Amino acid sequence: MHLTQLIYTSTISDSFVVDDIHSIMESAKRNNAEAGLTGLLYFNRQYFLQCLEGGRDQVNKAYNTILSDSRHKDIVILSYQEISEREFPSWQMGYLPESDLTKSAYIHFTANYTLDPYSISGSSAHGLILELKGILKQQKSVTSKAS
Ligand SMILES: Cc1cc2nc3c(=O)[nH]c(=O)nc-3n(C[C@H](O)[C@H](O)[C@H](O)COP(=O)(O)O)c2cc1C
Repeated sequence: MHLTQLIYTSTISDSFVVDDIHSIMESAKRNNAEAGLTGLLYFNRQYFLQCLEGGRDQVNKAYNTILSDSRHKDIVILSYQEISEREFPSWQMGYLPESDLTKSAYIHFTANYTLDPYSISGSSAHGLILELKGILKQQKSVTSKAS
């Protein structure tokens, strides 16, 4: 089965509460492990930006489930491509919330300092996701050194 990577964005729905993130991540870690999916979920309290990678059927199936989730709306695929190698092999679903550090990454990929994920190209979305991966990786190494 070809490895596939999908990046989409969406907006929180009116019924969304911040605690929903915990149940989303619980489901993601449980189901993605079973389906062989990996990726990253970025959240800035208004928008989600998620990268899902794995077998094509599994990616498509997970995306279809996520599409009908009432906790978000205006779901738009930004990038969909076959890949020869995973970019998030060690994360069933890494989670990264917005911070000053992640905000400073926006200008590399956007026309101004704010993030409107609907206005960026697929390759910019991919670039941003990779930069966010670097930030999460750094944070994880700091956390594990501290503990
Ligand atoms: C922004 C967002 C991202 C999500 N990401 C995933 C995911 O990566 N994997 C997953 O299984 N469910 C994900 N979900 C949750 C699914 O929409 C769905 O609620 C869940 O898969 C149901 O499975 P469960 O009954 O085992 O909890 C996500 C939901 C939202 C709103």
